[in-house]
Amino acid sequence: MRFLAFASCLALPFLAAACTADDLPDEERTVAPILTSAQAQDEFTYARPLEARVTHVALDLDLDFEGKRVEGTATLDVDAADDATEIVLDSNGLVIGGITDGNGNELDYEIGEADPDNAEKGEPITVQLGEMTGPALQQIVINYASGPEAEALQWLEPEQTAGGEYPFVFSQGQAILNRTWIPTQDSPGIRQTWEARITAPKPLNVVMSGISRGDPEDVGENRRAFEFTMENSVPPYLIAIAAGNIEFAELGPRSGVWAEPEVLEEAAAELVDTEAMIDAAEEIYGEYRWGRYDMIVLPPAFPYGGMENPVMTFLTPTFIAGDRSNTGLVAHELAHSWSGNLVTYSSWRDGWLNEGVTSYFESRISEAVFGEQRANQEYALSYNSLVEAIEEEGADNPNTAMRTPDGISPFDTIGPAIYDKGTVFLRTMETIIGRERFDEFMRGWFDRHAFQPATSEMFLAELREYVVDGDEALEEELMLDEWVYGTGLPENAVVPDAEAFAEVDSAAEAYAAGGTLPATEAWTGWTGAEQQRFLQELPEELSADELAALNEQLALSDSGNNEVLFLWLEAALRNEYQPAVAQAEEFLAEVGRNKFVAPLFTALWETGSWGQPIATRIYNKTRGGYHSYTRGNVDQIVGYEG
Ligand code: BES
Ligand code: ZN
Repeated sequence: MRFLAFASCLALPFLAAACTADDLPDEERTVAPILTSAQAQDEFTYARPLEARVTHVALDLDLDFEGKRVEGTATLDVDAADDATEIVLDSNGLVIGGITDGNGNELDYEIGEADPDNAEKGEPITVQLGEMTGPALQQIVINYASGPEAEALQWLEPEQTAGGEYPFVFSQGQAILNRTWIPTQDSPGIRQTWEARITAPKPLNVVMSGISRGDPEDVGENRRAFEFTMENSVPPYLIAIAAGNIEFAELGPRSGVWAEPEVLEEAAAELVDTEAMIDAAEEIYGEYRWGRYDMIVLPPAFPYGGMENPVMTFLTPTFIAGDRSNTGLVAHELAHSWSGNLVTYSSWRDGWLNEGVTSYFESRISEAVFGEQRANQEYALSYNSLVEAIEEEGADNPNTAMRTPDGISPFDTIGPAIYDKGTVFLRTMETIIGRERFDEFMRGWFDRHAFQPATSEMFLAELREYVVDGDEALEEELMLDEWVYGTGLPENAVVPDAEAFAEVDSAAEAYAAGGTLPATEAWTGWTGAEQQRFLQELPEELSADELAALNEQLALSDSGNNEVLFLWLEAALRNEYQPAVAQAEEFLAEVGRNKFVAPLFTALWETGSWGQPIATRIYNKTRGGYHSYTRGNVDQIVGYEG
């Protein structure tokens, strides 16, 4: 916080923590600062937080499964500058019934026009603060409902659940979707504490990304109310909810999992390493500061692998393989409890600060819990996908910089330049600096900025202050600016251990050279990562006979590991292999995870006259079951126009 202008400390005394955090006693540190540097600016919010900002959100909402909407009130605590007359909130399709102050007096408000060049930003709600100006804490109460197309919320029909009997709903806030169901300042640099009271029809249970406050209360009309609170200030994209016929299984003293009863047992079995992962993470970067770490395994329509909602990671069920081979996903979401949730990018352009740092930390957790070999293999996979992406995009393409260029949608700040380049960057720093010193720096980073926003330049400035410390040779060796702002792969990048996949790579070469298939015993003895590596190294073009032989020998279409099954289906479809179509269709009807769905439609589409009619036919049936994120991507792939 050192380079927050000192002036802002004096000029904006209402923003208590805009002064350096070190200046304040603990109990006054609850309002996180707003960063004022150019890098910290978020172009995807309408809010003007230095004039008036939200510090706390209290939701009182009913889940309406028939109407597929939430309805109720949001009470916002507002901190306004002395001369502020209005507060600007973000909205996207919210239906506003009225806005009052905390005493019930009507307040004037206006819902602005959506920016035609940037529809995903939604529209601003400008609320006149009336008599409520001044430094004292003020409240506004918004009566509202989510709109019919609220993209953060996915309402599932019973058929989309494992039990088939009850409906289900979940939210996905990141990147800028929470403004479709919560009227607040939806920007990662405007942290807020929150609480909620949510009613749902029996027998559904509700979970949120906050600590549950006691047992649900019967409220009549066959409904129950659930209460939650989050006392740590969080970026608003982390407010999340899910409701369905879900039950809980304990995993450890501070961890557990929610899932439909039909999948609870296998989910819990897959997640037995969770407590060990939390312990390992604490050992590396210090105390886990959120209390509980629970997870919910959602129905397969969930569009991501995982989402790091605090105290309640959301997971796709497709990570369940029966042998825990895909639990790197859990290490990843857990790692976000430090990188992303504790210290958060202020603008979407610093995606690597959340996702790259997390991918690196994930590999450290993997190493501690599963050993060096697995971590080295995961690093080799990351390095490979980075090199491939750079080859594809071109080493001077601005999209290969870790700090993403201006104007990129916040939903597109996902990909090798952020995740994999971030991992390779930090592994390179670790190697040059030495693990002990590097870890000390990272721990300090999390401690100094706990529950606060951050930027790339802050990270680099602190690395220079605490590690480089004037050592010119070290500065040159690290190539810091080139890593964060430059394109392509800096020459000091640490290459993966050539031995990581030695056996698999020679098997892949043997296959490519003469069609020699790995022996069944070798294949079944390989880890999930090894099987994936082999499939990724397959020749692009394969004949129907070759695909049939591969499937026969390796039983790919019977794999219980969805990562393996997906790579098989992708290879089959891009080679117009008709016998795989029925299974691909079944898979695409059930699974909505974008990482699988989008490439399978791409594989079909790119074959041209063979696959395009198949893709269109399948998509017409499956589109309605996909989340808006997946749908948006596939719409583009197949040129869907409604
Ligand atoms: N926070 C991300 C998901 C995300 C990023 C959503 C940006 C919207 C915008 C999450 O932690 C994530 O990275 N998920 C990955 C996990 C994988 C890298 C282990 C996923 O879903 O595939
Ligand atoms: Zn992530």
